[in-house]
Amino acid sequence: MLTRRPLIRALGRRRISTASEQRRPVRVLGLETSCDDTAAAIVTGDGNILAETNVHQHKVHEEHGGIVPLLAADRHLQKIPLVVRETLEKAEMRMEDVDAVAVTRGPGLPASLVVGLAAGKTLAAVHAKPLIGVHHMEAHALMARMGAEQKVQFPYLCLLISGGHTLSLVVHDVNHHSLIGQTRDESIGVAFDKVAREIELPWIDAQVGGGPGAALEQMAREGNAARFPMPMPMNQSTTARDPGFSFSGIMSHVARMREQRAFDHTCRQDQADLAAAFQQTAAKHLQKKAALALAHAADALNTRVTCMVASGGVASNQAVRQSLSALARRHSLPLICPPPRLCTDNGVMIAWAGIERLRRGLLDPYDVDFIQRWPLDQLKQMPYVPRESSF
Ligand code: KG4
Ligand code: ZN
Repeated sequence: MLTRRPLIRALGRRRISTASEQRRPVRVLGLETSCDDTAAAIVTGDGNILAETNVHQHKVHEEHGGIVPLLAADRHLQKIPLVVRETLEKAEMRMEDVDAVAVTRGPGLPASLVVGLAAGKTLAAVHAKPLIGVHHMEAHALMARMGAEQKVQFPYLCLLISGGHTLSLVVHDVNHHSLIGQTRDESIGVAFDKVAREIELPWIDAQVGGGPGAALEQMAREGNAARFPMPMPMNQSTTARDPGFSFSGIMSHVARMREQRAFDHTCRQDQADLAAAFQQTAAKHLQKKAALALAHAADALNTRVTCMVASGGVASNQAVRQSLSALARRHSLPLICPPPRLCTDNGVMIAWAGIERLRRGLLDPYDVDFIQRWPLDQLKQMPYVPRESSF
């Protein structure tokens, strides 16, 4: 019979000290399956990516016009063993050489989360490695800190702009975040995706990544934003000082334009002009709300941030970066964004968040469950001490 003992805590200590005794940085395997990417990576404590694999599902979902949860889960189930195998092979490592397993615990699509979590828990348990359940948004928010020189110091203002979320927060430390503003309706990523669909842009080649948002950005490069003026969201006296975001207004504006045949979706110039107009408005809206978030951090949270960070799929958009970078310059702050391929969902960010949590002893038991809805500012209240009943 198995003894009831805090095995994970003991393992965590042993593994971390083993790594430092051998004078090599810790090595963490990260798994991500919260949405439509099956991804794995092995990352070291000094920020080296030893290997990464990312299988996109864009082609699977494109014909349905959006992500179909059961199809996504089915694909994850098919791919996850191969993705893990391939990642280990690329790094020329075996599971024995990995110090810990980090896996996305939430938020996300339940059926998809379960696949990655089951794989991560099993790998960790079978190989007696510490397990770290990662909050997907915290992983996006910490991604910019990866690297030996640690350019990004706490506290910092982070804009998390993706398909799942649009929010501003102060990252005080690992596991400690203050949410400032969030979207009242749709996420910015969904807005990019829906507008790309309204103007009937084909998705970019699935292996490039980025989906409809990246297709829209590419098209907008040929466009004239002034041709189709768009309403600026939350610009009324009642909403102008609110650091939240809203995208439903611009989305329905584009839908109405299409109904009224104000543009021709078969004409490339019309597509490009509309893409440019939408992108410019969305980027300006983000800039205005990020400015309010900076003021809120200073006044209400009494926090002097060291820099601004933008992360999440939409942070790979150059127009969005330029707009945020202009704001950061006005405040004499650096704007730091992970490289585009690390802004969208990937295994590296999960492995890196795992390293940050491992360093603080934030481990999870092998029976940890997924969390579908998980507000980021509730992380601090979560119990992370392993439960003895797990064994
Ligand atoms: O972070 P992410 O990969 O997944 C989550 O939502 O967590 O973000 C995906 C979103 C999609 O809506 C995609 O269209 C958008 O990010 N996106 C972009 C770009 N690349 C990805 N949106 C605008 N411009 C881009 N270059
Ligand atoms: Zn994401």
